[in-house]
Amino acid sequence: MERDLISLQDFNRWEIEALLKRASQLKEELQRGHNKPTLAAKTLGLLFEKASTRTRVSFQVGMVQLGGSSLFLNASDLQLGRGEPISDTARVLSRYLDGVVLRTVSHQTILEFARYATIPVINGLSDLFHPCQILADLFTILEVKGTMCGIKVAYVGDGNNVANSWVEAATKFPFQLTLACPKGYGPDKEIMKAANELASIELTTDAEEAAADADVLYTDVWVSMGDEAQEQKRRRIFKRYQLNDKLLEVAKNDVLVLHCLPAHREEEITSKVLEGHFSIILNQAENRLHVQKAVLEALLG
Ligand code: CP
Ligand code: NVA
Repeated sequence: MERDLISLQDFNRWEIEALLKRASQLKEELQRGHNKPTLAAKTLGLLFEKASTRTRVSFQVGMVQLGGSSLFLNASDLQLGRGEPISDTARVLSRYLDGVVLRTVSHQTILEFARYATIPVINGLSDLFHPCQILADLFTILEVKGTMCGIKVAYVGDGNNVANSWVEAATKFPFQLTLACPKGYGPDKEIMKAANELASIELTTDAEEAAADADVLYTDVWVSMGDEAQEQKRRRIFKRYQLNDKLLEVAKNDVLVLHCLPAHREEEITSKVLEGHFSIILNQAENRLHVQKAVLEALLG
């Protein structure tokens, strides 16, 4: 049966470790020249309802580097945009493609697509999760720290799709996750409840408390794709949840600053911190490529 990556729950810790190890090999191999064509003659579809730079380009380049090819499918250009059911789209695309990455407004769309598809389905971001991002984030932290054991990750800002996937990651690896979110803007309650049965995840409304002694400071936009109608309100509510010098001061001396990008400078993060020497955001963005190639091999290979 085909295997999906819809959330981090689809893989256990050992499988994730194997993926990250393979990603490291693929990265080294590429730096030495080129990768072996492990996905020759395979075609990946990218069916996107929302904008993307990193996810789209890293998956498409990843397929080329592994000897395969890809098709970018803007959802509104397909018959899907004129009302063709997801069930038909999933079954038809399964006859042409070897795998599909979906970026959707609603997580339900990915679940429904996966129910009918007979090829691997990868979540390239939904309103609920962003698993590919967090796999690359874990890889990026491991490259520097060597282990997640005992690491404190402080997530400051909106309890959105990225935060929810971080919550799931904390159930897989023994690190401390502390989130600082405004009241009413924390991670999904059900996801938190389920995760807290397996790990001890802290949720506070105080950004400095979360950042205290952190090894990793992480943030994401205050206004995610789909939240644009609340932009003004969110700018007011999230004002105190900015990754800035004040938070760097209370974190560990060798803290790493991560941001999934795109960033809104002087909103969730200051330009100084984003461009400063603690920031490893470009390595983080690059690592999307290496980690997703490992995911593609595991699911399509
Ligand atoms: N971080 C991330 O997923 O970026 P894109 O929206 O550009 O794909
Ligand atoms: N939370 C952001 C992540 C973008 C990569 C969004 O959903 O827009």
